[in-house]
Amino acid sequence: MSGDLIDQIIDKYVNEKGILIQLLLDIQHEFHWIPKEAIKRISERLKIPYSQIFRVASFYTALSLKPIGRHLIRVCVGTACYVRGGTRILDSVEKKLGIKSGETTSDGKFSLATVNCLGCCALGPVIEIDGQYFGKLNSANLEKTLSNYN
Ligand code: FES
Repeated sequence: MSGDLIDQIIDKYVNEKGILIQLLLDIQHEFHWIPKEAIKRISERLKIPYSQIFRVASFYTALSLKPIGRHLIRVCVGTACYVRGGTRILDSVEKKLGIKSGETTSDGKFSLATVNCLGCCALGPVIEIDGQYFGKLNSANLEKTLSNYN
């Protein structure tokens, strides 16, 4: 991780007020998570208490304090998907990737999360990968879908 890159991002906000969330979003955009090193550096350079930055970073779901994989898989476990086998899809994804919801594979390829509705219930069971939706899933087309990501 580049401390120089963190400093370059902080440089854009040095003389501004009320910019913490935008600054953290920029860090998140660059690294795909908020490393502790970045929080420390922001705290030192902008004289904002570390605990305050940490609290903000913990509060907003758009910000992650853990590394996120290159691909984010969200499995819907909402009612409509549940009755059509959403939890079986979740089990299959967990087994295939060797991780549970909320975790990231050790190679940094996939992060897995669950969601309560993706807004396309008629297509259930549904998963979303990097913003793209895949519906009417079963174990065969799930396998094929996941194999398209590397
Ligand atoms: S419940 Fe799964 S998309 Fe709505």
